[in-house]
Amino acid sequence: MKLSLIVALVGAGWLAAQSPKPSNPLGDAPAVAEAGRLLYNRSCTSCHGPDGGEGARGPALDFAGRRYFRVSEAAIFDVVKNGIAGTAMPASGLPDTDVWGIVAFVRNIRATASDLVVPGDERNGMAVFTGVGGCSKCHMIRGQGGVLGPDLSSIGAQASLNRLRDSLTKQRAIPNGYRPVTVTTLKGEVFRGVARNSDAFSLQLLDESGKLRLFEMSELRSAVFAKESLMPYGFDKTLNKTQFQDLLAMLSRQTRTKVKPTLQGENEVGR
Ligand code: HEC
Ligand code: HEC
Repeated sequence: MKLSLIVALVGAGWLAAQSPKPSNPLGDAPAVAEAGRLLYNRSCTSCHGPDGGEGARGPALDFAGRRYFRVSEAAIFDVVKNGIAGTAMPASGLPDTDVWGIVAFVRNIRATASDLVVPGDERNGMAVFTGVGGCSKCHMIRGQGGVLGPDLSSIGAQASLNRLRDSLTKQRAIPNGYRPVTVTTLKGEVFRGVARNSDAFSLQLLDESGKLRLFEMSELRSAVFAKESLMPYGFDKTLNKTQFQDLLAMLSRQTRTKVKPTLQGENEVGR
């Protein structure tokens, strides 16, 4: 009994080590992807952008690009080695080891946070989200929380780990639909929120309670747009290390799509 259990465990360990064997002979260590990044920046940026971004003559290769078709290591290897016939994408002429390094880099920039193992305690991360972090004042996860910021219920599947970390630590440009605005009507009423839509004639404001309000510009005394996003940053400094890491881990594991009631009245969750 005992022996067979040990054999089973050893067997499982062996399988785990063997089965998802990466086809990339260089392995998947972060250093391999980093070396690939340097090679890429040297060989490919006459067309594609630096670090895999959009370039003048080639598409973005990273997750943000999202227009890529080749997913497997073998397919990316083939494209980089042989080019794409009938397009501007040339064969690289690089030795196979260099090509594999670049493959590791491309795979790395395409990963979403949920593709990676982010260490940390998810439950504690949720406690930070609703507690000391104050995140749930503005963000919803699975139906709980505020509405001024985006719903984060599937953020782990939508954002790379870098984008997640940057949103928590750095000041960034305000995305469309989230510019904070304060309007004062001709009658003197004041409303605050984010501008969902605005043009020369009208402005649609989402207020803290989730109410959409539509104003004609002609009924406003003023509409003052803020230059900075409502999204606070610097959480790597205001939270302690454990809190920050747990929060990041919790966000990376949010991969639910919207809860949509089915005909039977059940709640269908997940992808
Ligand atoms: C002369 C310009 C040029 C150079 C240099 C170039 N590319 Fe490309 N690349 C392109 C174009 C254009 C496409 C889109 C081809 C198409 O229409 O499918 C492309 C497509 C790709 C794709 C496929 C995207 C996808 O998933 O469908 C990959 C991967 C790629 N390039 C990687 C590289 C790498 C790595 C290098 C450097 C070794 C490189 N490219 C050098 C122009 C270039
Ligand atoms: C006062 C409201 C507010 C608070 C508090 C707040 N956020 Fe945000 N957050 C926003 C808004 C608005 C945006 C969208 C605009 C932007 O990205 O700047 C945003 C954007 C984000 C994004 C980027 C989403 C994406 O698609 O890239 C993440 C991640 C995020 N917040 C997480 C958090 C976390 C975690 C906390 C708590 C530690 C927090 N936010 C606290 C308002 C807030």
